[in-house]
Amino acid sequence: MDSILVRGNGPLNGDIEIAGAKNACLALMPATLLSDEPLTLTNAPRLSDIKTMTALLASLGAEVSALQDGKVQAMSCHGEINPIADYDIVRKMRASNLVLGPLLARLGHAVVSLPGGCAIGARPMDLHTTALEALGAEIELKDGYLHAKVAGGRLKGAVHKMRFPSVGATENFLMAASLAKGTSVLENAAREPEIVDLADCLNKMGAQIEGAGTSRIEIQGVDRLHGATHPVVTDRIELGTFMLAPAICGGEVTCLGGKLSLVESFVEKLEAAGISVTETERGLTVKRNGDRVKAVDVVTEPFPGFPTDLQAQMMALLCTAEGTSVLEETIFENRFMHAPELIRMGAQIEVHGGHATVHGVDKLKGAPVMATDLRASVSLILAGLAAEGETVVSRVYHLDRGYEFIEQKLSGIGAHIERIKG
Ligand code: EPU
Repeated sequence: MDSILVRGNGPLNGDIEIAGAKNACLALMPATLLSDEPLTLTNAPRLSDIKTMTALLASLGAEVSALQDGKVQAMSCHGEINPIADYDIVRKMRASNLVLGPLLARLGHAVVSLPGGCAIGARPMDLHTTALEALGAEIELKDGYLHAKVAGGRLKGAVHKMRFPSVGATENFLMAASLAKGTSVLENAAREPEIVDLADCLNKMGAQIEGAGTSRIEIQGVDRLHGATHPVVTDRIELGTFMLAPAICGGEVTCLGGKLSLVESFVEKLEAAGISVTETERGLTVKRNGDRVKAVDVVTEPFPGFPTDLQAQMMALLCTAEGTSVLEETIFENRFMHAPELIRMGAQIEVHGGHATVHGVDKLKGAPVMATDLRASVSLILAGLAAEGETVVSRVYHLDRGYEFIEQKLSGIGAHIERIKG
């Protein structure tokens, strides 16, 4: 298995390109199941999770081609559709559950495996199933699979309020309600930029969705959707991750294509820590002067709050801040798996339930480390850039799920990072 070697670094300088969003692309690709005409996504990220979604859609009968080196995903679902999403693919990636809404809307029935366990939390599916049941679906769990069907074959518009603004359940609801008969309203909807991107794409396909980006989304169901071409929104988590590289090492880096509106709550915390962020037409420029970073407290929340997907990376910065920071994780129940690894590098962190207290130390020291999820892995790379000596991060397959060409991108701004083939 490959690993990544990182050497403690001086300041980083230059430009770094930010890719299209993994989590937007993973929701946009299943939208191809809603139409028999082609859907083309440009600005797609080159990631193993996208390949997994490709394999899943292909197993359902879609044709998916990666063009221009994978930056364009051209999809078409004009033939016969297989309604069964198999455990062998679904277990690899939770976002596979995003085919449930589209299959149900297009075919009137679907059989989708439950994804099973996940390193960061239990991640149940109840919000997805109750949202689809509100639209008239009958869903039963049999042999590890959700068996869903709609009497009469077509979903019916309905008003539904979610008990929590789940990103995935909002996406499944939007796709299903787009082809339902009549008007649907989703209250307490997730407001993430990936939801807005999905609604924009569905509207290009002929859907009638209003209010995406707010807590109340209204959808007028239509009889059919047509083809479209859509650019995937910028990846705000890759953006935030790379913004932290100069924040940790010093220097000045412009994240090309970055927008403040995607990362406002995160930027507030960076600025409170003493890092300067400027928005220009080219992107977001991050600069750290020679002073030590200041401690800040962080609470993860649904968008527009501080993203859980940047909590691990922010912790890497705060390990060497002046003073004590408290990070509270409210979205997932087990998302501090990076803390024991950072402690191996000399960090002083205490974890109690959903809180991590980080006492800033002068310097971290390189060590062999590993992580059990994507964001935790990249936080160890960031920590390694700030540490004395060498850090080897193993289980690199997690990184390849969410960061394209990470060694090339970071070495392009002066980081000492290389992949060791295993
Ligand atoms: N939840 C339920 N029931 C459900 C669905 C969710 O209780 O039916 C709970 C989850 O267990 C969790 C919380 O609600 O505690 C939030 O889950 P949500 O459904 O919002 O998350 P998701 O759609 O499964 C997406 C991203 C995650 C990101 C979360 C939160 C994709 C493909 N994944 O997951 O991304 O952390 O939203 O913002 O969009 C990552 O990229 O590293 C990643 C984990």
